[in-house]
Amino acid sequence: MNRLRPLLIVGTRPEAIKMSPVIKECRDRPREIDAIVCSTGQHREMLQQVADYFEIKIDLDLGLMRPNQTLAGLTARCLTGLEDAINKYNPDCVVAQGDTTTVMAASLAAFYHRIPFVHVEAGLRTGDLQAPWPEEMNRRVAGIVADLHCAPTQRAADALLSEGTRPDIVQVSGNTVIDALLWTVARERNNAEQWEEKYAFLQDRRMVLITGHRRENFGGGFENICQAISTLAADFPETDFVYPVHLNPNVQAPVKSVLGALSNVHLVAPAPYPEFVWLMDRSSVILTDSGGVQEEAPSLKKPVLVMRDTTERPEAVESGAVELVGTSIEAITQGVSTLLSDAAEYSKRQIDDNPYGDGRAARRIVDGMLAMSWQSTQTLRRAG
Ligand code: UD1
Ligand code: UDP
Repeated sequence: MNRLRPLLIVGTRPEAIKMSPVIKECRDRPREIDAIVCSTGQHREMLQQVADYFEIKIDLDLGLMRPNQTLAGLTARCLTGLEDAINKYNPDCVVAQGDTTTVMAASLAAFYHRIPFVHVEAGLRTGDLQAPWPEEMNRRVAGIVADLHCAPTQRAADALLSEGTRPDIVQVSGNTVIDALLWTVARERNNAEQWEEKYAFLQDRRMVLITGHRRENFGGGFENICQAISTLAADFPETDFVYPVHLNPNVQAPVKSVLGALSNVHLVAPAPYPEFVWLMDRSSVILTDSGGVQEEAPSLKKPVLVMRDTTERPEAVESGAVELVGTSIEAITQGVSTLLSDAAEYSKRQIDDNPYGDGRAARRIVDGMLAMSWQSTQTLRRAG
């Protein structure tokens, strides 16, 4: 039997987290799969943290990150770098996850080379090209060219079908982030001394965990977010606010200038994944604009307030675990204050079943790839 040779692409922190179960599943099946992993290096330190933790062996690192990179510049570097990777490895298919520049460029590079493209976490839509920006466009481009769409939920699959995607190339797999989270929680819950020691200053006080990095929030949005956190820190002096600050300079500058001197606001470096999972588990409330965090937190029974006006992940909002609060100072402060003061409202946000997955998404995705039998045509192409 010919082994399938997928070229698995990662570029940013969340892609590395969400692709690691797929990479592991491929590497656990060496008789069927000859997996090659390429990083565009869209992120550097934040991707390396994840690769180290999940022991992802990266076969080719394009090292493309530049400080304060532009979307166009990064896209151009990704396209040419990924073309070189495709020429080097001549894969049977290209696989990428999500909605970043890396993913959009991977899908286009595969399309230009007439190589099947597998889109992991397919079918999420807000319907608004400006939010999330530019991710909604990235995800749609990947969806146009994909030859296998791995939708995390039935709703995402339905969105693809309603756009005219052939049903035989859409599968509902669950989200691989739940595979990664459950694996990490099981591994780390008995192994948390280092994080307990690092965060010993929290004592037994309540903690609000914060992340934020969306481009559409740069400028006024971030100023509001920081002002709201500053107000909350004054209103709840017995609560700690822990904020691992994304390395993007457009995030670092406003966060450090508004929040840097507040005694119960703790600005820390981006946390390695097991540390961040421990922080989510330790928190009372999570305030974020992250996609992945709002998918993970319901599994830990943590209420999430999302600092966005719209979401491509409505399932958790409908379940009650997630509330969209936008980026106005009033809405953020009101949302957090309610959760810190109203126990009945708090417990309503703790749900039993996470709508994003059961921890077995990677197996379904890899089975789906193998069922497509792309390797036979490509092997002929390689031979010819
Ligand atoms: C990117 C993705 C976004 C995703 C986010 C996850 C795009 C357009 N955006 O946004 O969808 O939600 O990653 O975190 O693909 N930086 C470092 N070291 C790092 C990572 C980033 O210094 O390890 C700094 C660099 O100055 C870099 C800047 O952050 O230029 C922006 O990185 P970039 O990947 O372009 O955007 P993100 O905001 O991280
Ligand atoms: N995360 C992490 N360390 C942090 C912040 C987040 O490991 O300091 C993890 C988080 O658990 C989730 C993922 O990174 O799995 C989300 O990444 P991010 O918020 O950067 O991107 P998004 O999901 O919004 O694309």
